[in-house]
Amino acid sequence: MINFSKVSFLIAGILVTTGAFAGVQEGKAMFNEATCMECHNLSDFGSAKKIHNFKQLEQRVQACQANTDAGWFDEDVTDVAKYLNKDFYKFKEE
Ligand code: HEC
Repeated sequence: MINFSKVSFLIAGILVTTGAFAGVQEGKAMFNEATCMECHNLSDFGSAKKIHNFKQLEQRVQACQANTDAGWFDEDVTDVAKYLNKDFYKFKEE
């Protein structure tokens, strides 16, 4: 007999750890561990003068992290872009 309450708990756990929210949390943690703030302060983000959509934001994060020793993978770059997007840029993610 399957215990449904356990199953739904498990599914909820999977959704939480793989969902967009987890990406934002991980992105924030990685951003804080990296050396981004050696060149930036938070007011650099979200003015949207040069960055006009989520794709450009991701590309900028990629370009910047390549200049640091962060060594992020593509999915890390996406998580950091999600974090910056949620707190500052507020673009529609595609
Ligand atoms: C060596 C200095 C330097 C470091 C370190 C650096 N950046 Fe940048 N970043 C820049 C410069 C310069 C620009 C502006 C480029 C331009 O105006 O075209 C920029 C622009 C950006 C922008 C776009 C800001 C906007 O809205 O116009 C984002 C987002 C960004 N960086 C994220 C990061 C992240 C994330 C990190 C850490 C992995 C990081 N940067 C580390 C120099 C740096």
